[in-house]
Parts: sequence; C-alpha cells; structure tokens
Amino acid sequence: MYRTHTCGELRLSDAGKTVTLSGWVQRVRKMGGMTFIDLRDRYGITQLVFNQETDANLCEQANKIGREYVLQVKGTVGERFSKNDKMPTGDIEITVSELRVLNEALTPPFTIEENTDGGDELRMKFRYLDLRRETVRRNLELRHKFCLEVRHFLDSKGFLEIETPVLVGSTPEGARDFIVPSRMNPGSFYALPQSPQTLKQLLMVAGMDRYFQIVKCFRDEDLRADRQPEFTQIDCEMSFVEQDDIIRVFEALTKHLFKTVRGVDLGEEPFLRLSWEECMRRFGSDKPDMRFGMEFVELMDTLKGTGEFGVFNDAAYIGGICAPNCAVYTRKQLDELTNFVRSPQIGAKGLVYARVQEDGTVKSSVDKFYSPEVLNTLKDKMQAAPGDLILILSGDDANRTRKQLCELRLLMGSRLGLRDKNKFSLLWVVDFPMFEWSDEQQRLMAMHHPFTAPKPEDIPLLDTDPASVKANAYDMVCNGVEVGGGSIRIHDAVLQAKIFDILGFTPEQAQAQFGFLMNAFKYGAPPHGGLAYGLDRFVSLFAGLDSIRDVIAFPKNNAGRDVMLDAPAPVAQAQLDELQIALAKKD
Ligand code: AMO
Repeated sequence: MYRTHTCGELRLSDAGKTVTLSGWVQRVRKMGGMTFIDLRDRYGITQLVFNQETDANLCEQANKIGREYVLQVKGTVGERFSKNDKMPTGDIEITVSELRVLNEALTPPFTIEENTDGGDELRMKFRYLDLRRETVRRNLELRHKFCLEVRHFLDSKGFLEIETPVLVGSTPEGARDFIVPSRMNPGSFYALPQSPQTLKQLLMVAGMDRYFQIVKCFRDEDLRADRQPEFTQIDCEMSFVEQDDIIRVFEALTKHLFKTVRGVDLGEEPFLRLSWEECMRRFGSDKPDMRFGMEFVELMDTLKGTGEFGVFNDAAYIGGICAPNCAVYTRKQLDELTNFVRSPQIGAKGLVYARVQEDGTVKSSVDKFYSPEVLNTLKDKMQAAPGDLILILSGDDANRTRKQLCELRLLMGSRLGLRDKNKFSLLWVVDFPMFEWSDEQQRLMAMHHPFTAPKPEDIPLLDTDPASVKANAYDMVCNGVEVGGGSIRIHDAVLQAKIFDILGFTPEQAQAQFGFLMNAFKYGAPPHGGLAYGLDRFVSLFAGLDSIRDVIAFPKNNAGRDVMLDAPAPVAQAQLDELQIALAKKD
C-alpha cells in the first residue's frame, strides 16, 4: 500500500497513529540537528521530521533529498511544537521511521509555490509542473465542480447529454475552420466544429427535445485573453420553445451555478434585459460591464455647432462619461488617458476633458472654443458634481467612437476600483441585429449565425431592408464578458434558403454546404432554439481570473501553440504523400 492517508488529512486527533504517506517534496529545511520536509500531494502538505540524534542514518538520507522528489514515508503522527495555523495540517508532523525514494526529480525550472518565479512561457512549457501549484490546481477543481453542477441541473430538467462528432463539415460561426485531411478521401477535408450548432438542430428534428453537451469547439481566429482556438461550450438546445422559455431555463441554471459553485445568491429577481441598441447607446458595447455606472451621455446638441471647436463641429457623434472625484487628475494622468485613447488598439484621435471645480465652474481643454454658458450646460447634461472629471470623445463614425468610449469607461472603472471581481452583474442582451455589414467581404454577414431566426414581425423587411431586421437572439453577459449566447432557430427550409441568399450563398452553394439541414427541415422540424455558454469564460469569472488559460489544463499560447507538446509542427513527407498534400514552396 503506497499510503494510508493523503498529505492533507491528518489532524491532531490522529496523534499517535502510524501512517504511510506518499507525495512530492515541496521543501527541505535543516535546523540544528533536525531536517524538515514538506510533503505535498493534491490534497495538501504535511510536515515530515527527521532527527539526527534519534536516527542519524535516516536523517542523512533525508538530507540528500531534493525538491520534487517523490517519496513514500512511514512514521508516527505527533503534535507540532511550533504550529502553523495557515495550514490545515499545521498542528501535526510525522516523525519518520522509514523513507523510500519512489523517484528522483530534476530541479524544477521554477518554484512550485503560490507565487512562482516562472514566466508564462516557461510555466506553459512545463505545464505539468505548473499544475502542481495549488492555485492552478484549484482552478481545475472549480471547473470540475462547475461541470458536475451543470450536469445535475440539466439532468433534473430532462436534458440528455449527447455527443456529436468532431470530424465534421464546416459549421460557420464567423471564424475560420480548422481542417483535417482525409486519407481515405484524397483531396477532401473534414472541418472541426466551431460549435455543434447544426448537429444539435438535427437532434431536435430527431425528437430529442432537450439536448446538452459539454463539448470542445475549434475556431481559427485571433487569440485574446478570453479566446482559445479550442475551448469548451456548454451547448444546449430545446424544442417547442420561445425566447422566454429558454431565458427562464438558463437563468435558473446560472443562478444554480452561482449558488452551488460560487456561493453567491443572485436572488429571485429575473436578470435585467437590455436591447442591443440600448447597450450600444448607453455603454458602447454589446457586453456592457454593469458593475458600475458612468454611462455615456450624448453631447451632440451641447457641443456641436455651439462653439468654434472644429473637431466637434464635424463630428457624427460626441459622447462623454463622468468620472467621479477625478477632477484632481494631474496633467500627466490626463496625458496618459489621451495616450490610451490614441493607442493603435483604441484608435481615437484625441480626448477632451472638463474638470468641475469646487466652486462649480468648469475648466476644460477646449475652454477657448466655448462660452462659460455652454460649459455649464455640459456640466448639467453630464449631471456632473464638483470634483468630477468629464471625458469626451468624438468621431465621424458613431459606432466606432462609442466603442472607443467604452474602452475608456472600462479603464476608468478599473482605475476607480469599480470592477470588483467578487461582485457579479448579469444581464441579457436581446434584439440583436440579424446582419452586420462586412467591409472586408463587402456583404451582409450573420451577426449570430445563419440559422438564427429573424423576429417574426421583421420577416417582411428581409425583402426590403434586410440590414434593419432584428434577430431572435440573446447573449448572457456577466461583468462585461459574453458568457453565453443563443437564438431561436429557423425551422423552415424556405426561410432558411432566403437567409442563405441574403448572406450571399448561391442556391447551389447553400445546398452543397447546408443541404443536409434544409433537407432535414422538410421532414418535420419542430420550432426550436438554444444557447451555448463559454465554459472557460464562466469558470474564469468564478475564479476571478483575467485569462481563460488559467482554467484550462493544457492551453495554447497567444500564437495558438502548445509549447509543451510543440504543436503544431511539420509532418513527415511520407505522411503528406499519403494524404496527397503538396506544400507550397516558400519564397
Ligand atoms: P457563440 O459563437 O456565441 O455561439 O459561442 C457561445 C459562447 O462560447 C464562448 N466562446 C469562446 N470561448 C473561448 N474561446 C473562444 N474562441 C470562444 N468563442 C466563443 C463565448 C460565447 O458566448 N452555436 C452558437 C450557440 C447557439 O446559438 O446556441 C455559438 O457557438 O462565451
């Protein structure tokens, strides 16, 4: 038997017991004639003690042991002389009588402690060592608990967990596909699913009624802190439902998860619902962080044409936010904000500010262009109080300027400590536009995906003004993160064909790519709809982390590489030949 107990479970009540433990060496300390070893496993750390006076041989052996050696020890549980109230096992130690080195270890390239000295890349290369750290392991435990509760809840509501294939055809969700060559069908390729969207719809046609799956999805897109090329969805679909039915079920699931996994009671009240348009107008984002206010105030009436400031007089949009107690900002701090909005990733031309002084007067960077009356109107419009700092952006594209102001709002929210990771603010964003224009592709694209149903009352607009059609789509947003999204689907082959047409597919292309779905709809498709949560995003929110990488056991880096496995990598010529693939010559 390798062990009688784990390294996390012995307490003072076990004193006197003879036990066997196995684990890794966290630390070796020599003090006088004693050697102490902290032995670690998944469950905790237990202190081992070796005494030079009582067992010199064993102590010598212990002194040769290095960090991360794998040991098995037998000994007696005793009360510790100097207790450590920070460790659950801090009252006891094991006086070792037998020691076996199960495996030696090279010195790890970084310390395996709460605060490690290892940089990101190094920790990813040795992820199996990184995962030994308690902080990282705890994230995986949280993820496990999260998945269990998802399964419990959905099972209790009659959902069936059904697996769908990974080698499929293209499943458009707006990203590029990862493709896999088929040896048995030379020249043909599978695509990895961007989501099981069409398959879950086929499961509804098949009468499964309520489906879910905790499933890997693959998207070849630019990576960010909240995006991985392979990530996990909690993918769900229901038959004979309308938007409200879906929102009700998944609001209940969300509350259940918050309560059971995060210990947060979100109360009985339904989540706030805001239309996409309202979100864009008030927050410049379709995933507004509602933990704090600082809402946009449109200032076109106040500042356009009321002074000599050409930039505002030419603007298509002028908007401001009011940062409380920031009028004291120094020139340097204001320059920093200006540099921030001017940075390439934000792309604004400049920032106008106005301080409301203690006497209520306004001092702004555009004083010379506006009369005191106009500046006073600005203050009133912004509902600004003495001590507040008004920050204003303008531009010739309203949506772009709003997005820039959104970034500024988020920055100010962070600076003012208003984005507390232990506070959660959830909402549904509804009434999304059905399509968005793509400059790159010079055509309308599906804002959600091509299977999303338009609002029934907007169907006639598909012929006359498709850009104004609203979709029966909804996103769940938590603290400025889109944690989930879904829609009511089209279940009618004719309407689906029309949407493909608007999206620029010829009937032949639509038939080639989605014929299976349109044909299935001819055999009695029930009205249906669903949603998918981003599991990694949800768990990282619960863990209070900024990046989803920390809740994934083996994540990819920003270049989409697994630096531990060194993937992707070239393959042997023979393998390419077998697949009949020739690589283009690099110049
Ligand atoms: P959508 O594309 O909105 O919808 O994806 C659903 C949720 O998945 C998460 N997500 C991601 N997480 C990490 N890395 C990524 N690259 C990534 N992309 C998306 C987000 C998002 O809200 N088939 C539809 C769902 C449906 O209509 O039922 C779909 O995939 O949290």
